[in-house]
Amino acid sequence: MPKDQVIVALDVGSSKISCVVATVDKSKLSVIGAYSCPSRGIKNGVVNNIDKAVECISETLTKAEMMSGHPISRVVVTVTGTHIESMNSHGVVAVSGENSEISAEDIARVNEAAQAISLPSSREIIHVLPREYVVDKQGGIFDPTGMSGVRLEVEANIIHGSSTAIKNLTKCIHQVGVEVEQLIYSGLASSESVLTDTEKELGTILIDVGGGTMDLMIFTYGRPSYSAVLPIGGQDVTNDLAIGLRSLLEDAEKVKLRMSTDDLVKEREVLIDKDGHEAKVPKNELYVGDLNIPVDTVPKNLVNDIMFRRLEEAFKFVQLYIKKAGYDKKIPAGIVLTGGVAETKGIDRIVSDIFKLPVRVGCPTGISGLVDQIQGPANAAAIGAIKFVSDMMLDENRTTGHKSGNIIFKVVSFIKSFLP
Ligand SMILES: Nc1ncnc2c1ncn2[C@@H]1O[C@H](COP(=O)(O)OP(=O)(O)OP(=O)(O)O)[C@@H](O)[C@H]1O
Ligand SMILES: [Mg+2]
Repeated sequence: MPKDQVIVALDVGSSKISCVVATVDKSKLSVIGAYSCPSRGIKNGVVNNIDKAVECISETLTKAEMMSGHPISRVVVTVTGTHIESMNSHGVVAVSGENSEISAEDIARVNEAAQAISLPSSREIIHVLPREYVVDKQGGIFDPTGMSGVRLEVEANIIHGSSTAIKNLTKCIHQVGVEVEQLIYSGLASSESVLTDTEKELGTILIDVGGGTMDLMIFTYGRPSYSAVLPIGGQDVTNDLAIGLRSLLEDAEKVKLRMSTDDLVKEREVLIDKDGHEAKVPKNELYVGDLNIPVDTVPKNLVNDIMFRRLEEAFKFVQLYIKKAGYDKKIPAGIVLTGGVAETKGIDRIVSDIFKLPVRVGCPTGISGLVDQIQGPANAAAIGAIKFVSDMMLDENRTTGHKSGNIIFKVVSFIKSFLP
């Protein structure tokens, strides 16, 4: 298989750093290796300790390399953090091609024009995502290649982030001797693996709730419209539980995961208590006798109360963000939750009670091979990053020699796009 047909995604999260290696054969993606390592040196999605992050990234890449048998020299990297913002922009150019036919070059120029926005020099463009093209005042066009016209306009959604945060992330990866092929906003990556075309078309908000961040990505009329990142995640839920149960963070995390893992709960129905007696765990209690907590069981509704209160607060924040951005009435398809926290039992109900909209938990789809370990929502971003790049490669192959509008939809120009 040619070298460029293998895509390696590195998801640098606050809870885990994970790497997924996949082969691409036409539109078929097959995972040949994956590895996750508990995160070190990352807080709320951004690097806060270079040495620790480098160590962790290096371990992850080495293990993924061993598992896949593919030497890793380039990676597609997800980026998140509260520094991520988005804005809508407009670009306009005169069509230059023969017979006023719109060429790939015209599309590239109009997207370039949409980037001419005034951002401080501390910001860097991560994505320019065209939402619609307008040819001589006719709007609603997704790919104007080959159309006739004099004036070409684009409405684009621009996702940008802090140059410093992005530099620190890429620096860590360079330090392990690996090149950054592409940066992808993690919320956009997750939406690639989790959302259906219908959801995007109708209007949906994707929320990837990880350990330290909530990545928001809103789609309206099939196109990305708004992105934002909030610094709240599963680690805050664990902190609250640790305070409530007077336990260590590690034990609070175990209690939290036990609440949504049926097998564990079943296994522990008959257990030995701290005095060595066999005891049946009451139905509404959760066994914690093996943890460093001064009781054998805790009421499940107490644990749920603590967890849900924090999650409710977080989603009310999200609601405020969406309202402020003006999208609260534009998402009839509702909300799709992904990221590790989406595994919390009952989370869909909490969120639909707040938003009064349909809510579903989304797992990554459309990928085969060694997927057993990576089918959960926590891997939506890594798998989505692979899909994003594979779609780009497909577009490139389809339009060999000239890039289509779709490629430009997806092109990430982080290297050359330092803004004035
Ligand atoms: N079954 C579960 N029930 C509740 N929470 C869970 C469950 N599984 C994982 N989590 C939580 O999900 C979080 C990790 O999610 P994820 O792996 O998506 O984070 P990340 O991508 O590393 O972080 P981020 O995207 O915030 O930078 C942790 O806080 C973890 O406790
Ligand atoms: Mg994440």
